[in-house]
Amino acid sequence: MQTSVTRFFGNRANWLLLLLLWAMAVGFSLQAHISDIRRHNQDVVTEGARNMFRMVLLTRLWNSEHGGVYVPVDDKTRPNPYLNHPQRDISDNFGRSLTLVNPAYMTRLISELAKQDEGVIFHITSLKPVNPQNVADAWERLALESFERGVKETNGFEAHAREGLLHRYMAPLVVVDACLKCHAAQGYKIGDIRGGISVSQRYQPFLAAALPSERQAYFTHAVIFLLMLGVSWWLLEQLRRRWRELDDKIVELETARDELVQSEKMASLGRMVAGFAHEINTPIGVAVGAITNSEHTLEQINRLLDSEEVSEDDLRAALATLKQGDELAMSNLRRAAGLVQSFKRTSIDQASDQERVFALRELIDDVLHGLQNQLKRLPVVVTVNCRNSLKIEGAPGLLEQLLTNLVLNSIIHGFDHGARSGEILIKAVSGDKKLSIEYADTGSGMDQEALARLFEPFFTTRRGQGGSGLGMYICYNIVTANLGGTLNCQSKPGEGVKFLIEFPAKIVAR
Ligand code: HEC
Repeated sequence: MQTSVTRFFGNRANWLLLLLLWAMAVGFSLQAHISDIRRHNQDVVTEGARNMFRMVLLTRLWNSEHGGVYVPVDDKTRPNPYLNHPQRDISDNFGRSLTLVNPAYMTRLISELAKQDEGVIFHITSLKPVNPQNVADAWERLALESFERGVKETNGFEAHAREGLLHRYMAPLVVVDACLKCHAAQGYKIGDIRGGISVSQRYQPFLAAALPSERQAYFTHAVIFLLMLGVSWWLLEQLRRRWRELDDKIVELETARDELVQSEKMASLGRMVAGFAHEINTPIGVAVGAITNSEHTLEQINRLLDSEEVSEDDLRAALATLKQGDELAMSNLRRAAGLVQSFKRTSIDQASDQERVFALRELIDDVLHGLQNQLKRLPVVVTVNCRNSLKIEGAPGLLEQLLTNLVLNSIIHGFDHGARSGEILIKAVSGDKKLSIEYADTGSGMDQEALARLFEPFFTTRRGQGGSGLGMYICYNIVTANLGGTLNCQSKPGEGVKFLIEFPAKIVAR
């Protein structure tokens, strides 16, 4: 009766599977959360680097627009040997020496400062550097090559031996009008990519900043995981208990039903006994009457023989009467013996369910005999269509019960105990290894709803009128469970019923 779902969850070991699924779900969510935090972190770093790049770009543009800027020469700011300019080194009104600082040089100088103050490294570079110091490293080369293909900016991570994990950002430096003052000689045109500036910074501080949110994500996930785990475990435990109770109830009900089926069987046996007693009463009564009569005749003969003169005719007449009585007694006793035989067969068969070889026609007749008591009072004709030679090996008791229940059903429901007249037809056909029995009556039939519930246990249209609702259920069980066959019923109100029973059978003779 248990469904696969309840059976599955009834076993605690299977809950581990649920646990695993839940753990996976929470794991996925946590992973998504953490990678979200990290992505956001990287976005923040990138945005910072982009801003620094823009600032540098602006200062460079300002410088370019002036064609370079003069600054006093000192230890840090030496004249740029790569700058080819007639007025590179000049002196001001106060005699100080000034040198022209081009944008790239200025970038390098600012980069020195930034490195000391902020831990940020700017690097101006190009695939074709004028100054060999500006040569691109491997990462920058890839970035510059991608700029040639139209990429606007790039960022990523690089493990660095000294600095640890580095975040790197790079964007191109595009040639504008102002640049041509110095770079036109190298063949650059406006819009060309002259090179780029990379902004590198240590990622460790950013990771450290994100750590609290990561920790929080771990914590909330753990809490939700455990909370849900506890609640669902408790619920499942509760459900399991309910299921257990339900199972017990079901077992109880099933036992009760089986007991009822058994007692129904016994009741039908009892009905049969009563029918039989009634049936055998007549022949035995006739036989007893005949024998009593014979006793009178014998006395008469005695008296005849005691008298002086015996009329031969009288004696012969008395003997003839005696013989008649004898024959009557004999034939009735034979009938009674036949009934006893049939009763013996059916009662043993029904009580034991044992298998043997039997003639199907004889079995059907036995069953009808057993029900003669009820049938003979009804305006119902029973027609049996089955060959006398058909023999089967199997449990006759089952078939007897089946037929008895079907006939009783017709009597009670179909013909309403004789309120309707009609016909019962029983037809048996043997197949290769199966037997088909068609049972039909021309009784009142039933509607769709009754038909749909016909084989349900305890379904009856006559509750309170002695209907147990088990007759058809027993039939169904006999055919499907015991005989391994099928049982179908067709019926419409007013059109009688038709049962088609098919089951595998050992046919011994056709
Ligand atoms: C005043 C002259 C001058 C101007 C204006 C100028 N540059 Fe330069 N640039 C130089 C010199 C000289 C170098 C090479 C030496 C160095 O590193 O300073 C250089 C180097 C560079 C480099 C580094 C790669 C290399 O060749 O060593 C890039 C990139 C660059 N310039 C881009 C530009 C862009 C873009 C502009 C316009 C916004 C520009 N420059 C304007 C003089 C100039």
